[in-house]
Parts: sequence; C-alpha cells; structure tokens
Amino acid sequence: MPPLLEVENLQTHFRTPDGVNRAVDGVSFHVNAGETLAVVGESGCGKSVTAMSILRLIPEPPGKIAGSIRFQGRDLLTLSDREMRDIRGNEISMIFQEPMTSLNPVLTVGRQIGETLRLHQGLSAKQAEAKAVEMLTLVGIPEPARRVREYPHQLSGGMRQRVMIAIALACNPKLLIADEPTTALDVTIQAQILELMRDLKRTVGAAIVLITHDLGVVAEVAERVIVMYAGKKVEEAAVSPLFRNPKHPYTQGLLGSMPKLGSSLHGDEGRLAEIPGLVPSLKQKIPGCVFASRCPHTTDLCRQVAPALEEKEPGHVAACHYAVKEGAIAA
Ligand SMILES: Nc1ncnc2c1ncn2[C@@H]1O[C@H](COP(=O)(O)OP(=O)(O)OP(=O)(O)O)[C@@H](O)[C@H]1O
Ligand SMILES: [Mg+2]
Repeated sequence: MPPLLEVENLQTHFRTPDGVNRAVDGVSFHVNAGETLAVVGESGCGKSVTAMSILRLIPEPPGKIAGSIRFQGRDLLTLSDREMRDIRGNEISMIFQEPMTSLNPVLTVGRQIGETLRLHQGLSAKQAEAKAVEMLTLVGIPEPARRVREYPHQLSGGMRQRVMIAIALACNPKLLIADEPTTALDVTIQAQILELMRDLKRTVGAAIVLITHDLGVVAEVAERVIVMYAGKKVEEAAVSPLFRNPKHPYTQGLLGSMPKLGSSLHGDEGRLAEIPGLVPSLKQKIPGCVFASRCPHTTDLCRQVAPALEEKEPGHVAACHYAVKEGAIAA
C-alpha cells in the first residue's frame, strides 16, 4: 500500500528584508496509515513550518512552498483553495501548542466541535451537539453534557487541550498533526494528554505526525522519528534504533542527557540535551554539512561537501560523512 502522506523535496522559503529564509530546505518523508511519526529538533529547525506547509497554512507571500505533498495519492500543492479547505479539519487536522489561542473565546465548546461537523458533514445543530457530547466523552471530559455548553475560559488548560483534540478528531481524520501538543501544560497534565493520545491512536486509528521537543514523548508514542536540523532532515529511523544507536552527531548530541528507554519519561530529563553553539542562520547557503559549525567531529570534507542522506542500516538513514554502519564516528 502506498503511504498515506508522502512529502518529497519540500522547500518552504520566506522572503525577508535581509535575504531568503530557507526554513524547510529539501525535506522528504512519508507517513503510513495509522502510524505515529515524530519530528524532533531544536527551536527554529523548521518543524512547525513543515506542518503548516502540509496544511497549506503558510502565508504566501512572504512564504513560498515547492516540492510535492501527496496525501492519498493527490498532490496537496496542486489543489484549489476550496479543495484544500475540504481536506483541512476533515481528512487532515491539526492541534497546536497553545489551546487557548486556537479556541474561540466567545463560542461554547460544543459549538466549536460541532462547527467542523456541520461544515464538513452537514449535520444539523442538534446532531452536532450530540456528536460533540460524544467527542467530549471520548477525550475523557467529565460531565460532557454540561461542559458542552461552557466557554473555553471555564475550562482548565488540560481540558482545553482535550477539547482541541476533540475538535481535531471530530471528523475522523486520517492524519492528525500535533505540534507540541503538551508543552504548554504542566507535567502531570502532559502525562494525561499523552496517555489520551496513545489511547486514541488505538481507538481512532488516525496516523499522527507528532512534533515535539520532548524525547520522552517520542519514546512513548511514536513508531518512527525524523530529526530535523536547520531546515533539513538529518536522520530518520524507527524509535528503538534511533535511541539505541543514533548515527548523526546532532542526534547523538540531542540524546546526550537522555534517560534510558522505558524509564521515567516526564519532566526535564526527557528534554533535548543542550548542544554548544547555535543553529546557523537559515538565510545563507551553507556549502557543506549544516551541522559542521557545531559538530565535534568536523573535518574539511564536512565544511566543503554536504553529506547526502544515506541508508546506514536498513530503514535507518543519516546525512553524515562519518556515520558508519556500527554507529561509531570514524573521524
Ligand atoms: N511567516 C514567516 N515569515 C518569515 N519567517 C518565518 C515565518 N514562519 C516561520 N519562519 C521562520 O522559519 C524558521 C523555522 O521556524 P519553525 O517555526 O518551523 O521552527 P520550529 O522548528 O517549529 O521551532 P520551535 O521548536 O521553536 O517551534 C524560523 O527561522 C522562522 O523564523
Ligand atoms: Mg514550532
């Protein structure tokens, strides 16, 4: 079966007064039906821009998207705005980091869940409210029949994020894009939302693209991971080989202070490790490896020639001249 989503050579650039920002610079990946793919990388690496590109929510101009994004065989980049609206919130939906800013403060949560159903599935107001109650039950909100008539400010942060998930899942999407869905929440609530997402994965069966800083989340929820750095994919593997045997020095750096798989995964110990130095400006073309300026193994070759993404082991690719099969750095 072909993948549900196939992104090929995605390039999303922004024109700015001081040059073109290559936020996403030639990224390819796929998502199979029902699987969870995690996207990790430091701030500013292009994770959100990748997500927004899939949904075509990039403002053009200053943005410009090139490449192809095939969803169930159709290239989303060639669809009309109308066709794209039919897909958004229906077949592909998204949840964002900050639930308060994405909920409408003057509409009840029931209205907001029902809205997408009325829009995409033509339900009556009454049917939509019944379905909204059902969705609130699904995402674990107590007293759903009462809550459905409340406004966002009457709910806690964790409940608002549950409402966001309910909205995202109301139309039974095939793909859910979750951009840092738990970072704005406190630690116990994060754990609950994660558990909810894991349960929903089983009951709802949607594929998930999960963008996160939290490697603990990756280990718990995802099957496969792509690691982004400065607008590029630098490594991709199934979760357990990536944690056991990261090939790219950037991934090795991120994993530097990682707890072992299966140990306590919440709180600061699951965060990305600090790597000395800064992500390079995306506004100048880097001739060699994008990570060369921070890599402890850099050689002249790295500074001059960009390493291609190469399969180092079956299903495990990395863009590093020196990542060898055993996972050791030979430089
Ligand atoms: N509308 C825009 N106009 C200009 N530049 C933009 C725009 N949106 C994003 N960018 C730039 O794209 C680059 C990638 O940003 P992006 O938001 O994808 O990073 P990220 O990996 O999601 O980071 P974070 O982890 O902080 O959310 C950044 O340099 C950012 O400044
Ligand atoms: Mg982001």
